[in-house]
Amino acid sequence: MTRDFHRRQFLGAAATSAVLVAGSAPAEERVEVRAQEKAAATKRAAVIHQAKPMAFDPKRVEGLSEKILVSHYENNYIGAVKRLNAILDQLSGLDFDKAPGFQINGLKREELIAANSMILHEVYFAGLGASGKPGAALAAALDRDFGSFDRWRSEFVGMGKALGGGSGWVVLAYDKHGGRLVNSWANDHTQTLAGGDPIFVLDMFEHAYQMDFGAKAGDYVKTVMAAAGWSNADRLYEKYSRA
Ligand SMILES: [Fe+2]
Repeated sequence: MTRDFHRRQFLGAAATSAVLVAGSAPAEERVEVRAQEKAAATKRAAVIHQAKPMAFDPKRVEGLSEKILVSHYENNYIGAVKRLNAILDQLSGLDFDKAPGFQINGLKREELIAANSMILHEVYFAGLGASGKPGAALAAALDRDFGSFDRWRSEFVGMGKALGGGSGWVVLAYDKHGGRLVNSWANDHTQTLAGGDPIFVLDMFEHAYQMDFGAKAGDYVKTVMAAAGWSNADRLYEKYSRA
């Protein structure tokens, strides 16, 4: 390789950096060019997530006020999407070769929290607002994996009440590893079943119920179960169990 070739490489990378000093010796220049190329390679476009519109009319969810639903959607769901985008923007420009471990750990942990908060809130909101029962395929799977719908419901509600006073998620998930439905427990956004796809979830963070129910988390759980709409869960079960 010639010195001119390396100069051309550097000029191509120089837009993203400003380190090379004119007149460097060839060997130093090659090292510099490699550093410039590496720096350029570490930058990538951040993925931008868009918040989904509210999947239901907040005036028409039996038992949950418009005030708490709008607050929950705007502050916690949209807040998570905005936070995730801001974190991804920082990560896209981070030099992972030089960044201290605490910075990488902090950003990646917050990315996971925000991403799971976004995903779980979308499933939570999509599961509200149209009472009914699971469709035939999901009902048969609940029978198969829990014995009956009532037994599944009893487990799911019991887990929700058990999280009352604390916080977390109860997640009906399709476990791809076992090929079955499971009720998965989480007391923060980072705890999810590996390989588990959420189908129907219960948000047990206080922001989901305190405004309407105070400390009566059990009443909130009962209300969500009564207001559950199953069409989204049916769709997600079909999608994940056939994947
Ligand atoms: Fe929430």
